[in-house]
Amino acid sequence: MTTPSIAAPALHRLRAGMVGMGMIFDETYRPFFEALRQQPLFARAFGACEVELAAVSSRTGARAEQYLREAAGRIGKVQSFREPGSVAQLLKSGNVDFVCVATPDNRHFDACRAVLQAGKHLLVEKPSVLSLAELDELERLARQQNVLAKVVYHKLLDPDHKKLRTLVADGELKHVNNGYCSLLEPKLISGQQFSEWIRGRNPGTYVAVHYIKLIDFTFGGRLARVTCTGQRGIVGPAGGDTWDSTQLRLVYEYGDGREAAFDIHTSWVTPDNFPGYVEQEVQFRFDNGVWNAHSRKRGVELTIEGATPTKRKITMNNHYNGTFLEPWGARSQRGYGVEVLDRFAREVATVEFGGPAAERAKRLEAARALTYNDLSADRQVVATVQAMEAILERHAQGKPDCVVCVDHAAGGLVLFEPGSGQGHVLYGPRVVSA
Ligand SMILES: NC(=O)c1ccc[n+]([C@@H]2O[C@H](COP(=O)([O-])OP(=O)(O)OC[C@H]3O[C@@H](n4cnc5c(N)ncnc54)[C@H](O)[C@@H]3O)[C@@H](O)[C@H]2O)c1
Repeated sequence: MTTPSIAAPALHRLRAGMVGMGMIFDETYRPFFEALRQQPLFARAFGACEVELAAVSSRTGARAEQYLREAAGRIGKVQSFREPGSVAQLLKSGNVDFVCVATPDNRHFDACRAVLQAGKHLLVEKPSVLSLAELDELERLARQQNVLAKVVYHKLLDPDHKKLRTLVADGELKHVNNGYCSLLEPKLISGQQFSEWIRGRNPGTYVAVHYIKLIDFTFGGRLARVTCTGQRGIVGPAGGDTWDSTQLRLVYEYGDGREAAFDIHTSWVTPDNFPGYVEQEVQFRFDNGVWNAHSRKRGVELTIEGATPTKRKITMNNHYNGTFLEPWGARSQRGYGVEVLDRFAREVATVEFGGPAAERAKRLEAARALTYNDLSADRQVVATVQAMEAILERHAQGKPDCVVCVDHAAGGLVLFEPGSGQGHVLYGPRVVSA
């Protein structure tokens, strides 16, 4: 009897570049690349695809090189570049097919532009960029170079948020009217982790953006107005431009003429010993229902003498990113924070290897149509971030409580100071086409 021969599937390869080797690299990209070293990606569309971290870039190179030493055996050979000019050197090495950008928020744009100009696929951490003009430029480059430009919003992959969206999409929850979200980071984030770049920054851009996207993606509608206030005095001077906490309000309007308002409160000065590492809570009220979610009520409370709540947290989010001993004996680190990166790599592999070369353009368009992560679908989120930053800047200059109107007769983003009918145009073109 002859054994039927089974051809081994083609083994494709994607090489990744990483710009920024800080906290989020350690939490999500590191386990992602280390897991892929063990097991390639598999999908019917493209077969098997090795994904390997090939080059990294960071400010001083110190943490990167320490990681590369410690991870020997868990990852392959990786080139490390440092400032100045680290991104240009990484791209010049010619060693990468896609690049992930995880630098501080206000340093995304330059790195992203260089990546796209070099014709590489791009994945950037949230918030993608801080202004619509920057977003326009990245979108233009991605189209010109025929590559993907995507942003990481991992909360959209949280099973709880997927359920919320499913209930809304299926019409079980009818018409959102209003809601609140809060996300509180511990003081060590502002005091230690981000101390190098925190001057002039605010926690709203850094974390409210998770909820801005959740609201935009889940409920749709058109962003109409943005207001914001905040407090200072802990991270920086009380009259300065570095913010401890912010309260942002978005008003959306829907096709039926009704409005909804959402308040998003954020902080990065919550005491380090509070029980939930990152306190997260949302409530959305609908015509026929209420959705309540609280990170500390997700189910787990742990006490270990001498360890909780500082070394280990009393409540933990095992859905986002946890280290586990699997039932079959293996150690793993996984969760939606890692899954979102895996999805992006699959999208790139599908574009590059998921069928005949002549149909690449079709596959590229299909990947671009995914509004959960494509930069072209990030317009209302970036509009909110730009509006919030402009409002906080005016506040720091002694003019609090401005409002930004979206797709106003005078322009796409128009800022009004209290008591003044004279608008200041932040962005001229429409945010969303009529
Ligand atoms: N998805 C999430 O939930 C999540 C969580 C945390 C952070 N983030 C985002 O990830 C990004 C990075 O945050 P982080 O917490 O890792 O910050 P971090 O301060 O811990 O690390 C920043 C990294 O960028 C590098 N860097 C700084 N300037 C650079 C430059 N000019 N060129 C190259 N590298 C440079 C630094 O060397 C460092 O490795 C931010 O945009 C943040 O909003 C996302």
